[in-house]
Amino acid sequence: MDHARPRTAIGQLTADAVLGLRIGALRAGGMALAVRGDRVARLLHRPWRTDPYPVFAELRAAQAAGGPVRSRTGLTALATHASVESVLRDRRFGVRLSDGGSRLGDGGEDGSLLEPVDLSLLTLDPPDHTRLRRLAQPAFAPRRLEHYRSVAERVTGELLDAALARGRFDLVRDLASPLPITVIAALLDVPDVDSERFARWGRALGSSLEGVRSPAHARELAQATADLRALFAELLEQRRADPGEDVVSTLAQAVDGGRATADEVLALAQLLLVAGFETTTNLIGNAVQALHRTPGQWDALVADPSLAAAAIEETLRYDPPVQLTARFAHEDLEVDGAPVRKDSGVLLLLASANRDPAVHVDPDRFDLHREQTVPHLAFSGGVHYCLGAPLARLEGEVALRLLAERAPRLRPAGRPVPRVATVLRGPLSLPVRA
Ligand code: HEM
Repeated sequence: MDHARPRTAIGQLTADAVLGLRIGALRAGGMALAVRGDRVARLLHRPWRTDPYPVFAELRAAQAAGGPVRSRTGLTALATHASVESVLRDRRFGVRLSDGGSRLGDGGEDGSLLEPVDLSLLTLDPPDHTRLRRLAQPAFAPRRLEHYRSVAERVTGELLDAALARGRFDLVRDLASPLPITVIAALLDVPDVDSERFARWGRALGSSLEGVRSPAHARELAQATADLRALFAELLEQRRADPGEDVVSTLAQAVDGGRATADEVLALAQLLLVAGFETTTNLIGNAVQALHRTPGQWDALVADPSLAAAAIEETLRYDPPVQLTARFAHEDLEVDGAPVRKDSGVLLLLASANRDPAVHVDPDRFDLHREQTVPHLAFSGGVHYCLGAPLARLEGEVALRLLAERAPRLRPAGRPVPRVATVLRGPLSLPVRA
C-alpha cells in the first residue's frame, strides 16, 4: 500500500512514453512527432494545443474508421464518448499499475521532479481509494453546500463591488481566481490570518495537475507542498483538540480512529485545494468566453439570469476545464476493437467525448438552451467521478448569475491570455469592461 510518491496516471504516461524520464525532452521529442502528423503528440504542442478541438475531431474520425489511435509517443488515445465512458466505468482499469506500483518506480530524484505533489485519491485504486474517498465525502453534504453557497455569494458580491467600481477589470484575476480559493478556505475552515499564504500555495500547486515544467518549477512545488503540509498539520492538531464541522475535523478523527495515516489525510486535504482551485477558475473563465464569443448567448443570460446553471452545464460540455485523463489496464483486454496489453496506458479525451456527434446534436455549437440527453464527461466517471462537482457547479452558477445581474453590459476589453497547458484549459487573463 505504501508507494512513496504516487503520481497521476497522466503524469506517468507522458513521463514514460514521451519523456523518457527527462524534463524538457517531453516537449522537444514530442514536437518532432507533432510536426510529422502525430495527432496525440499535437495535443501537447502549439499551435494545435491552442485549439485542440479540430485535433479531437480527427481522432474521433480515425477511431471510427480504424479503432483507437495509437501514437508514436506510446499513448493510445480514446476520443469517442462511448469508449471514454466505458473505460472510466471499467474496474479492470486503474490509475496505478496492476501490481499497485507506479511506472516510474517509487521515489528517486527523477520521480520527485516529475510529480512532487501527492495527489491522493487521483493516484489511488480501490481499496485505498474507497477508504479515503469516504473520509472526504462529508465535506460535500447538502448542509455544507448551503454554507459554501452563502460564502460564494458573499465573496462574489465583494469581488464584484471592487471590480465594477473600476469599470475595466480582469475577470480571472479579480473574480474567477479568488472565488474558489476563498470557498476552499471555508471548506477546510482555514483561519483568516492564514488565508493569504493559503492562496499563494494553492496557486503554486494548482499547476501540478499539468505535470512539471522544469527543475525550478519542481522546487517551487516542493516548497509549496512543505509549507502547506505544515499549515494542515497545525490545523489537524487544533481540530483534534477542538473539533468543528469542517473536513479537517473529520480527517483528524479518522487518524485517531486508525482509519487513515497522518500522511494520507495531509495529502487528501492538499488534493481538495489543488483539484478545486484552478479547475473552477477555468470553468468561470471558459463560460464567460463562450458566452461572449457566441452571438446572442450573453444577452440571453442577462435576460434571464436563472439560466446561469444551464450555462455552466453547457460550458462543462463545450469547453471543459479538465480536458483529459488516463488509465492503466490491469489485465490484457480489448477497447473498441483494439487490444490493450496489461499495464499499458490509455489517454481518455474527455473534451473530445463531449463533442462527439454520436451523443450531442451540433456539438461544436455553444447553446445555453441545449438539453443534454447524455451527460457530459467533464467531471470524469466511475469511481474517480469528481467529488467536488456539486461545489464547482454552485460556484460557477453564483459567479455567472451575479455577473449577469450586476454587469449586464459586460464585454471583452482586450486579448485574453490562454493557459499554456494540455490537461487544464482556460484563460490566464480575461480583460473585460462592465
Ligand atoms: C469545474 C471544476 C472542476 C472540474 C472540471 C473537475 C474535474 C475533475 C475530474 C475530471 C476528476 C477526475 C479525474 C480522473 O478521472 O482521473 C476530478 C476528481 C476530483 N475532483 Fe474535481 N473538478 C472540478 C472542481 C472540483 C472542486 C471544486 C473540488 C473540491 C473542492 C474537486 C475535487 C475533486 C477530487 C477530490 C477529485 C478526486 C476524486 C477521486 O479520485 O475519487 N473538484 N475532478
